[in-house]
Amino acid sequence: MQNKIRSLLKKRRAILLAHNYQPPEIQDVADVCGDSLELSIKASQTDADVIVFCGVHFMAETASILSPAKTVLLPRRDAGCPMADMVTPEALKKKLAALPPMPVVTYVNSTAEVKALSTICCTSANAFEVVESLDGDEVLMVPDRNLALNTAARSRKKIHTWEGYCPFHNLLTVEEVDAAKARHPDAVFMAHPECPPEVVALADVAVSTSGMIRYAQKSAATDFIVGTEVGMRYPLEKACPGKTFHMVSPRMHCDDMKKISLTDIAQCLETMVGEVKVPEDIRVPALKAVQRMVDLSI
Ligand code: 13P
Ligand code: SF4
Repeated sequence: MQNKIRSLLKKRRAILLAHNYQPPEIQDVADVCGDSLELSIKASQTDADVIVFCGVHFMAETASILSPAKTVLLPRRDAGCPMADMVTPEALKKKLAALPPMPVVTYVNSTAEVKALSTICCTSANAFEVVESLDGDEVLMVPDRNLALNTAARSRKKIHTWEGYCPFHNLLTVEEVDAAKARHPDAVFMAHPECPPEVVALADVAVSTSGMIRYAQKSAATDFIVGTEVGMRYPLEKACPGKTFHMVSPRMHCDDMKKISLTDIAQCLETMVGEVKVPEDIRVPALKAVQRMVDLSI
């Protein structure tokens, strides 16, 4: 199946991008694996005609915002991110009407419609830098409350939050982390910034998924407790042979990130069904917010 996909990719002049949480067999056949920021940058720079996005809907949508001339395919239309649906354009407009004027920093885990109402986007890799790049002393961060609180812990700005969360990262408790640390007393604890602030406070480092790979590669430590989605074990082990990664909780399993199969990828390359396209009246204002983030990050 992997050989078939590689030859279909060639035939379609397509590139396959896979998020770090995707199943191993998909990461192994992909042209590029990475976190949300790396995949957005790759999508904006590729000269392929077609981008096959193995991740969730907002990621494919971001690729379409950045590359409107390309065909962006999501092999399973129903692969979504529950957090992205926790803010609607109507609710955001209502909130903005109730606040003094301030920039809106929108996590890429959001719909194109919400991005279109935003000043700038951010990912878990650059949230602090994005917030610091803005004029003024106050910002609104949507939709992830934990990312906002974890950024606020490092920033002097007043950060207004939104009540969104990742259903899996938000589950992680101090007790689970303490238990993992008791089992692995010499391990370094890496947390994703979508985890609650009391959990991030216990971490040696709070970074994006690819940030974890870079950190583990550079670190002298050999044992790591990993506070993110369980799929991260595979890219971490692949990048760091000889090092051991303990996933902090089996409950951190994102079903949407596991929906796409090799068969789905082959099928969508054969049929070209599954295109994600953002209408121009939304894409153009959304691009402003996404491009501003990309420009700050490359
Ligand atoms: P990263 O950008 O860190 O890969 O995170 C994406 C995501 O959805 C985390 O749950
Ligand atoms: Fe969304 Fe959480 Fe899944 Fe990431 S892990 S895609 S934030 S639901």
